[in-house]
Amino acid sequence: MAVNHIKLDKSKKGWWKSAVFYQVYPKSFQDSNHDGIGDLQGIISRLDYLDQLGIDGIWMSPMLQSPQVDNGYDISDYQAVDSMFGSMADMEQLIAEAKKRGISIILDLVLNHTSDQHRWFLEAKKDKSNPYHDYYVWRDGSPEQLPNDMRAAFGGPAWTYVPELGQYYFHQFAVQQPDLNWDNPAVRRELYDMIRFWVNKGIEGFRLDVIDQIAKNPDLGVTGNGPRLHEFLRELSAEGFQEEYLATVGEAWGADVERAKLYSAPDCSELSMVFQFQHICLDQQPGKDKWDLAPLSLPALKKCMAHWQNGLEGQGWNSLFLNNHDLPRIVSRWGNNQDHRLESAKLLGALFHGMQGTPFIYQGEELGMTNVKLPIEEYEDLETVNLYKERLAQGYNPADIMESIYARSRDNARTMMQWSGETYAGFSDVEPWFIINPNYTEINAEKALADENSVFYFYQKLIALRKQLPVIRDGSFTLLCPDDEQIFAYIREDSNSQLLVAGNFGATGIVIPEEIQKQSAFLEGELILSNYRKREYKEDSEAAKDSVMLEPYEVRYYYWKK
Ligand code: NOJ
Repeated sequence: MAVNHIKLDKSKKGWWKSAVFYQVYPKSFQDSNHDGIGDLQGIISRLDYLDQLGIDGIWMSPMLQSPQVDNGYDISDYQAVDSMFGSMADMEQLIAEAKKRGISIILDLVLNHTSDQHRWFLEAKKDKSNPYHDYYVWRDGSPEQLPNDMRAAFGGPAWTYVPELGQYYFHQFAVQQPDLNWDNPAVRRELYDMIRFWVNKGIEGFRLDVIDQIAKNPDLGVTGNGPRLHEFLRELSAEGFQEEYLATVGEAWGADVERAKLYSAPDCSELSMVFQFQHICLDQQPGKDKWDLAPLSLPALKKCMAHWQNGLEGQGWNSLFLNNHDLPRIVSRWGNNQDHRLESAKLLGALFHGMQGTPFIYQGEELGMTNVKLPIEEYEDLETVNLYKERLAQGYNPADIMESIYARSRDNARTMMQWSGETYAGFSDVEPWFIINPNYTEINAEKALADENSVFYFYQKLIALRKQLPVIRDGSFTLLCPDDEQIFAYIREDSNSQLLVAGNFGATGIVIPEEIQKQSAFLEGELILSNYRKREYKEDSEAAKDSVMLEPYEVRYYYWKK
């Protein structure tokens, strides 16, 4: 099937259901002004590349004014571009240039907290009667007596003492990220006005950082899913988003299917969709955190995805993702970046892009970029650095801590985008702010574009297929062989077609089970996608489209028009 790019009509309600988004982490994407830090002009210079891939929108991690304690997730002015990334004029140019190519810009809204350098917080800590004091969450205490023993996500207590006030402020993340008090209507109004500012600039959607944590209640020890959460979201939607054409996606680690039905209700009363993380957490020890590694159970992953697919059908909307700036590279995590990097990167992409929902690709995923291993001194991410110190103090063995860091550090995703085999990988002409994965001479965009067998062109096909085959957007989902330890297969079906997706999650070949072989799509359908080229060229009988042998990490799409 030929790759045929279809541009979406963004004035149509629910256009984002047909869209594919691409996440850019601005600091690591492309430098244009020779300071080793990615910037807005850098993104503009790569829009044609993104257009070639076929994406419909870019989610940009924050590029607003920030002291950069948490790489921009600590915002000190919501309405100013950080000078490190460029100017407001650059931002306007980016929005306009992207729009010309049918690409929407989706801004990252960090509404749960600000930077401690935000004007509101600087005022808030002056005295208790300051009008901004109540913009944040304070409790009385003394240096010896914390309000309670809640912990922050990046280590240490969730409370920091301000001696002049005799009070603690609450922060779910770093000390420099004080939590906003959403119970205060003035805070909410400020945020809605700020959102309107960006919508008026041409922003076509938002990703909402840790949105399930805004309605916290520290007195009850509650962080996620607070009692007023959905009330706040409905107000946010009515006041801030208004237009039906905005694409909004909330980051919600605490979301289950039932809650996601509220978040992504078809009447758009809250958001378009959420990022849920149940699948992402399957390879960690139950009840422990992400650093406590456990092997992935394929049946568990399949059942989890089927639960979401079936659970939200007609009642909400899924996002589909395997990577982001907080997660390790999926090909190193669930794929095989040793002997089958290309095949396994494509397999993972095909399995997720065949489902119902809106896919999000993270920069470099379309190249099959991999994790890194660094000495501890070279890690930049504060979560990683704090984890190391904390676990060391708790008596963990340094080698074990490093194993967890190699597997899970957020810095795996934050190495520079690999554009070419030149010095500094075509990212910059000076040494970048953080490392470049040494494999950049092998894995880079220039090589991928010159190789028709690359992960890039495979993703290009996946994106095009979603637009060409309505069954991918609208069809029902039926999981096949749920308990099989190696095969991941499912059927998508609508009234006039069927799509069979079948993949081998293992490094050894395997015979396709009966349950799959008897599907009409397998018997009658056309093989429209495969990550083994011999299938397309039908070199020999083994390579035939109906071969019952799936090669290591092989994936196939069969499409049957009834
Ligand atoms: C989630 C973001 O994705 C992450 O990068 C950030 O550190 C935290 N929220 C805090 O804003």
